[in-house]
Amino acid sequence: MNDEAPRLIAAAREAARHAHAPYSRFAVGAALLMTDGSIVTGANMENASYGLSLCAETVAVATASAAGRLRDVVAVGVIGGAMDADGRATGVQPVSPCGRCRQVLNEAAQMGGRDLPVHCGAAEGDAIRSYRLSELLPDAFGPLDLGIGRDHPGPDSK
Ligand code: THU
Repeated sequence: MNDEAPRLIAAAREAARHAHAPYSRFAVGAALLMTDGSIVTGANMENASYGLSLCAETVAVATASAAGRLRDVVAVGVIGGAMDADGRATGVQPVSPCGRCRQVLNEAAQMGGRDLPVHCGAAEGDAIRSYRLSELLPDAFGPLDLGIGRDHPGPDSK
C-alpha cells in the first residue's frame, strides 16, 4: 500500500509550523517526495510588502531546485489553515495549490518527466483530496514548449 499521501500531509503540517504569515494569519505547509524517498518542505513566507509573499509550494520547489533536485520530485502534499492564537494552523478543509504554485510545480513535473500526484490536506482531520497536476493545470505551458525537459535539460543542467 502506498502511504505517500499521509506521509506528505504529516510533513506539510510540520512545515506549516514555520510559516511566516503574520499578515494573513493563514499558515501553509508543502512537502515534496523525492526520488530517493526523502522529503523537501516549505512554508509560506509573507512580506511586509504584501505582494512579495511566497507560497509554501513555491518555497519547497525552490529549495529542491537549489539542491540540484528539481527533476527529482515525485509527489506533492500541501496543507493550510487559519492560525490560532499560538500560530498553529487549524481547520479541516483541504487546501489546494494556488494558480501560480501550480505553474511552479509544473516546472518540476516537466523537468522530471512526471505528472505529479498532488495530495491536498487540511491542518487537522483526515480529509485528503488527491489529484494529478495535469488535472489542476490542464494543457499547461512549460519547459517542454521551449524544448527543455528531462531529455533536454538545457545548458545549465547539473
Ligand atoms: N498560500 C500558499 O502558501 N500556498 C497556496 O497555494 C495558497 C496560498 C499562502 C499565501 C499567503 O501567505 C497565505 O497563504 C494566504 O493567502
